[in-house]
Amino acid sequence: MKKVFLAFLFVAISAYISACGTTIPIPQEKDVVAMSKNFPNTKLSDLLRGRELYVRKCSGCHTLKNPSDFTSAQWEQDIPDMKTKAKIKDDEAQAILLYVLAYAKDSNQISSR
Ligand code: HEC
Repeated sequence: MKKVFLAFLFVAISAYISACGTTIPIPQEKDVVAMSKNFPNTKLSDLLRGRELYVRKCSGCHTLKNPSDFTSAQWEQDIPDMKTKAKIKDDEAQAILLYVLAYAKDSNQISSR
């Protein structure tokens, strides 16, 4: 009985996780390495916090935009705009920007500059 319950829980949790973030990348250590070329001192926890805030604060009015659909320049313009709309604090906007820049359309160029 317990096993069945655990199996059910596992399926439920997996479905829940995939439903809220299929196209929204989950930060990994390699992303931290790439980012730290331009943003030294970036930590995995910073990117994870950025993702968490992004999912929580930026999905209220429209579906979450895929970070790689926009260039870093577009993100640098859009985030201050959306910061006002989403009524978030400076440091939250900063964390979200760092997160989306890690996966921006031109993130390869950014990270190898
Ligand atoms: C209060 C509603 C609202 C919230 C919250 C919000 N947005 Fe938006 N967002 C909009 C609207 C409306 C548009 C389309 C019109 C525009 O570009 O202003 C938009 C458009 C965008 C675009 C597309 C711009 C383009 O060039 O096509 C991006 C990217 C974006 N939002 C990112 C975000 C991010 C990141 C957050 C979280 C910080 C966020 N949004 C939170 C309302 C919102």
